[in-house]
Amino acid sequence: MILLILRFSDSVILRLKREPAMEYMTNTHILVHEFDYLEPASVEETIGLLAQYGPEARVLAGGTDLIVQMKMERLAPRYLVSIGRVPGLEGISVQDGHTRIGARTSIRTLRNDPWVRARYPVLAEACASFSTTQVQVMGTLGGNLGNASPASDTAPALIAYGAEAVIQGPKGTRRVPVEEFFVGPGRSVLEPGELLVAVELPSPQAGAGGAFLKVGRVAADLAKVSAAVLLVREGDRIADARLVFGAVAPTPLRARQAEAVLVGQRFGEEVVTEAARVASEEVRPIDDVRSTAWYRRELVRVLAYDGLYRAWERAGESAGPFPAAPAAPPSVAGLPRALRHIRADQEVEVRLTVNGERRRVWVAPNELLLNVLREKLYLTGAKYGCGIGECSACTVHVDGRLALSCLVLAVAVDGSEILTVEGLAGRDGKLHPLQESFIRYAAFQCGYCTPGMLMTAKSLLEEVPHPTEEDVRDYLKGNLCRCTGYAAIVRAVMGYAKQI
Ligand code: FES
Ligand code: FES
Repeated sequence: MILLILRFSDSVILRLKREPAMEYMTNTHILVHEFDYLEPASVEETIGLLAQYGPEARVLAGGTDLIVQMKMERLAPRYLVSIGRVPGLEGISVQDGHTRIGARTSIRTLRNDPWVRARYPVLAEACASFSTTQVQVMGTLGGNLGNASPASDTAPALIAYGAEAVIQGPKGTRRVPVEEFFVGPGRSVLEPGELLVAVELPSPQAGAGGAFLKVGRVAADLAKVSAAVLLVREGDRIADARLVFGAVAPTPLRARQAEAVLVGQRFGEEVVTEAARVASEEVRPIDDVRSTAWYRRELVRVLAYDGLYRAWERAGESAGPFPAAPAAPPSVAGLPRALRHIRADQEVEVRLTVNGERRRVWVAPNELLLNVLREKLYLTGAKYGCGIGECSACTVHVDGRLALSCLVLAVAVDGSEILTVEGLAGRDGKLHPLQESFIRYAAFQCGYCTPGMLMTAKSLLEEVPHPTEEDVRDYLKGNLCRCTGYAAIVRAVMGYAKQI
């Protein structure tokens, strides 16, 4: 009932705000704002477009922040420049002892990558703490930095490792330490026409150990405070130290005074307590909706203390043997070679393979995949809940990866394979064993969240074939159930996992 009321009120708001969109009067899935959609085929073309359209253009990568900002009408770009198919922006590679991570590399990839986990565990831990599973799959490293949020999860870890942002623009390529990349809340050093193309990390020092700690209101929320701690151990002394905090200043903040307390000292309770105290005085937190300045200072002290102990223990561990260095990023064969420009007032034909069937549908640039599935293909399994990436009721698979269809532009997935909950059952109508398990364990009440739960659980079992209960809870943390049937849902997923 609450959802019906919300949907109704949303439609009314749209009516009040946007007279001309008569055909979408009652459609709550569409972006209100209209824009030209541009899909360049190279980095050079992307830079040309960004330089041509200046502040009227925005870069679209994962869409988990930009589309939300547009839906909430905080941003209204006239041009969306999608880098989804631009070659050379994705993947992890090792060059001259540096690890290069393409800006479009997903947060989930970084969380799971064996090289990153072994060489840069603080970054892998930061990515594991990042939002929901769906947002980890869709969200990119470049997007997380480009937003220039003081609460960015990846920035403290990258700063601790001394990473550099690789920026390409009309005047060529430049490198900026990630520590200097942030200028203020929502502002970075990127000039008009510039694109963040990669991040490069130097080899970690021998004897290094680190930890990432974060406290939020709930598991998938932005940080109240986050901390990346890196220590280099020489015997019982601290040879080097990095303490970097998120969400406690206008930009991610390196606590240099606290680091100075540590370097050269023998590790012990006294020096750790003093460094944590200095760090809590060095940060500049504010009161906001997530926390108070006073509480954030206390958290800095506690996270610094705990992080230093954890980092010290790990610095004593044997680091090797390291996994093989990652292979070169995937080949670009088959990717588009020409700029695609769809005007705001234009409709184009999009070809999708949905649940194994080829479908063609005409869409405008601002139509979302959820809209297309529900309103044009009459596949109503994926549900509209929040519309801003917070409930996961709209979860589907796009080319085998989880996607929140309320944040995906239909034009951006042209040519993709889509799997919705309707595609789980066999052609003979026999339910998927996961669906059977949900019935067996009575894992639903109203059923509104169930399609999203099933699609997410299917993805979990592909990624982690033998999950623990903790794995299930963590993987499904972004799927909200208003009926609060979580215990039965976890039992149903575990029940099916045990069968297979
Ligand atoms: S409707 Fe897509 S995440 Fe809530
Ligand atoms: S929302 Fe009703 S069963 Fe989850």
